[in-house]
Amino acid sequence: ELPNTLTLANITHNTDAHTNIPPTLLQYLTRNLHLTPHHPISNTRKIIESLFPPETFARYNTLPPVVTVAQNFDCLGFPEDHVGRSRSDTYYVNKYTVLRTHTSAHQAEKFRSMRGEGKDGYLISADVYRRDAIDKSHYPVFHQMEGARVFERGGRSSAEVVEEVLRDLEGMGEANVEVVESCPLFEEGNGVQIAKGHSVEEAEAVGRHLRRQLELVVSKVFSEAALAAGKTVGEKVKVRWVSAYFPFTSPSYELEVLWNGEWLEILGCGVIRQDLLDYAGRKDSIGWAFGLGIERIAMLMYGIPDIRLFWSQDERFTGQFKEGVAKRFEAFSKYPQCFKDVAFWVSGEGRGAAAAGGAGVAAGGEEFHENDFMELVRGVGGDLVEDVKLIDEFTHPKTGRKSMCYRINYRSLERTLTNEEVDELQAKVRSQLEEKMGVQLR
Ligand code: PHE
Repeated sequence: ELPNTLTLANITHNTDAHTNIPPTLLQYLTRNLHLTPHHPISNTRKIIESLFPPETFARYNTLPPVVTVAQNFDCLGFPEDHVGRSRSDTYYVNKYTVLRTHTSAHQAEKFRSMRGEGKDGYLISADVYRRDAIDKSHYPVFHQMEGARVFERGGRSSAEVVEEVLRDLEGMGEANVEVVESCPLFEEGNGVQIAKGHSVEEAEAVGRHLRRQLELVVSKVFSEAALAAGKTVGEKVKVRWVSAYFPFTSPSYELEVLWNGEWLEILGCGVIRQDLLDYAGRKDSIGWAFGLGIERIAMLMYGIPDIRLFWSQDERFTGQFKEGVAKRFEAFSKYPQCFKDVAFWVSGEGRGAAAAGGAGVAAGGEEFHENDFMELVRGVGGDLVEDVKLIDEFTHPKTGRKSMCYRINYRSLERTLTNEEVDELQAKVRSQLEEKMGVQLR
């Protein structure tokens, strides 16, 4: 069934037992929403880019999505057993090649090349790929913007570096946000640690510079959102800094914003680990990096309620946006939902209940991974599926067999679905579940 080769972005790759890219995914590799004029993803990118002076930040917006496992994981210090590496989370072209799961895959090469262009930083915008659940904020393809900024250290004292970083910070101005909670800049023994080779003062100064820069991003995004909603001045948006872990930054943080009463994570960031910069030929520099989700921010800014909309080619969607014009998304009529449940046994008879725990459960000798199920549903229903929820799960007390029940919500963004077509889709999901995943339908 699997072809021997896969041609992506004009390059032919051999496939192998690791290959797990469904044919339905290929259409997205050439869409380039972040470069499509007037598309909200492109508009959002440009609004954020406007905060980063091009004299300091090189732009890299056309990097192809196929990268090596080394670029995506190894070089960034991902441990061998990190979940992100698993075939249930990542799209493998083959054992050595993946569709990038984040823009950080390009860090090392860009730390190297930006200097050649006389820059101290970069912005990378690109499509990234992850296997995930199906709901209004998850899609197997989305867009990230990665930013980085370095400061020269070579031949200077720690105090001189700190002075330069703080002087630059002063020049950036205040952000119109209210920081209601803030994890410490660093905290030994609690993940928020200083990387090897950095003085506490340097890391603190770089961390403050990073936080200011990103608070400015949030404040810009929310003033645009206010404009779009027809208000002249935005309210101060509430944000909080949360300590985080990334293998390539230390200390690391996440920034969350309060939106409709909920804390929404919009980005990850941190002080770049020195060994990464050293490896990229930048021994004499110290700096920060961040990665943000462009869809998340565009959804906030324009009030776009469903991530599938970004891929819509319906004029009622695409026609609403114009570069340089802040305007809220206006929902076109909502079409009815249609719920269908599917229940199945994922493990064979005679397996102990204990075996049914863990990350996956056995089904005919294979593990059941939820993301495989999600992809199967997407493969059948495409953008007609709004979300998929696990609504029941139990283990039979005697046989130890495990049963799962999922509820699939079918709804088109563009028209009313007929009963017949939904029934047909559901029947396909059921038969593929048996065929491809070897589960037993109930
Ligand atoms: N690449 C990280 C992610 O996708 C975000 C990140 C970028 C964190 C740069 C730190 C520095 O989650």
